Amino acid sequence: MEFRFSKKVSQISGAAIEEILKYAGDPTVISLAGGNPATETFPAAELGEIAQELLTKQPSLALQYNTPRGYAPFRELLTARLRDHDNIGREFDDLFIVTGGQQAVDLLTKVMCDEGDVVLVEEPSFVGALNAFRSYGAKLVGVKMEDDGIDVAGLEAALQANPNAKLFYTIPSFHNPTGITTSYEKRKAVYALCAQYGVVILEDNPYGELTFDGEKLPTYKSMDGEGIVLYCNSFSKVLSPGLRVGYAVGHKDLIQKMVDSKQTCDVHTPILNQLMTYEYLKRYDIDAAIAKMRVLYRDKCQVMLDAIEEYLPKSITHTVPKGGLFVWCDMHGDYDTREVAQYCAQRKVVFVPGCTFMVDDQAPCSAFRLNYSTMENARIVEGVKLLGEALRNFMK
Ligand SMILES: Cc1ncc(COP(=O)(O)O)c(C=O)c1O
Repeated sequence: MEFRFSKKVSQISGAAIEEILKYAGDPTVISLAGGNPATETFPAAELGEIAQELLTKQPSLALQYNTPRGYAPFRELLTARLRDHDNIGREFDDLFIVTGGQQAVDLLTKVMCDEGDVVLVEEPSFVGALNAFRSYGAKLVGVKMEDDGIDVAGLEAALQANPNAKLFYTIPSFHNPTGITTSYEKRKAVYALCAQYGVVILEDNPYGELTFDGEKLPTYKSMDGEGIVLYCNSFSKVLSPGLRVGYAVGHKDLIQKMVDSKQTCDVHTPILNQLMTYEYLKRYDIDAAIAKMRVLYRDKCQVMLDAIEEYLPKSITHTVPKGGLFVWCDMHGDYDTREVAQYCAQRKVVFVPGCTFMVDDQAPCSAFRLNYSTMENARIVEGVKLLGEALRNFMK
């Protein structure tokens, strides 16, 4: 049967990524294409013990249906933690539990956007979010990224040109895919612009804790006197992505609509996973664990940056992230890194071509994303060296 798919999903294709991941599954290929957190950071023994205890002592809680908003004591603990650590949350705000930060992006779009409404995005941006916007028929308008965050004049022009803009999606710290952090000055300017034009800021902060030098800039949500920011985050990068436990903080009217909509998606985030996260936070010092992750990723990032300096052609520029999991490289000129990626994959090294993260993902793009989070240091060096050789040959 020929399926008659909706127009909304016709714009979404995972083909480019699947093509690359096909090679990444081959153990003889070095993949710089991933984005997973390092497995050794998962507290498997601690979580195993907690799960065992929950299932034996509280099965009627851990295995029963629960509320769409999330387990109340867990919400209270997170609300207090965000207030004390990050100055997030005002009297008009509420917090609810989502199935990974990705679900907050999806639900906010669902409650805010009719087909044809505009979502303003940093360009490049996280493909999972771009596809969520596309899946509701939203029109994406990209504004280019600079070394210190979005081009603010470009954002203002886009706001002026698109009166039906509903959302501005941003990853202000250790951005995926570029690794860039938006400066405090730009955050203030962007917040003021969005408030002026009545556009909701969707602040996605999954890498915010993974700062290499301990510096954390104020979030948009911490500046949010008018209740225009929906802040989302998760435990994916600091505990386990497989648990799928995330949270969103926003004006209570917005959260209420998102909670209502969550009921048609998955009813509630798996309660066992919420309880495991909650108990872990009560029993263990997650900040100490995060401090170790910062060092681990900082060191791996440095290994990759040194290898890039040594092995990649000098004409290729790269970002120098202060946190997170990614480095963004640009070959400049007429290169289409989709083609380059195929060429490199045959030479046993893969990366993600830049077009994947663009509003127009069919147009050629000379940039690409590298990741360092899961590999041994020696393999990072080997991968970048192979990449350098392949790129030099390609560019000849
Ligand atoms: C920028 C960004 N946002 C959201 C997500 C989704 O994360 P999760 O749903 O696991 O919380 C990711 C995952 O890689 C990401 O990079």
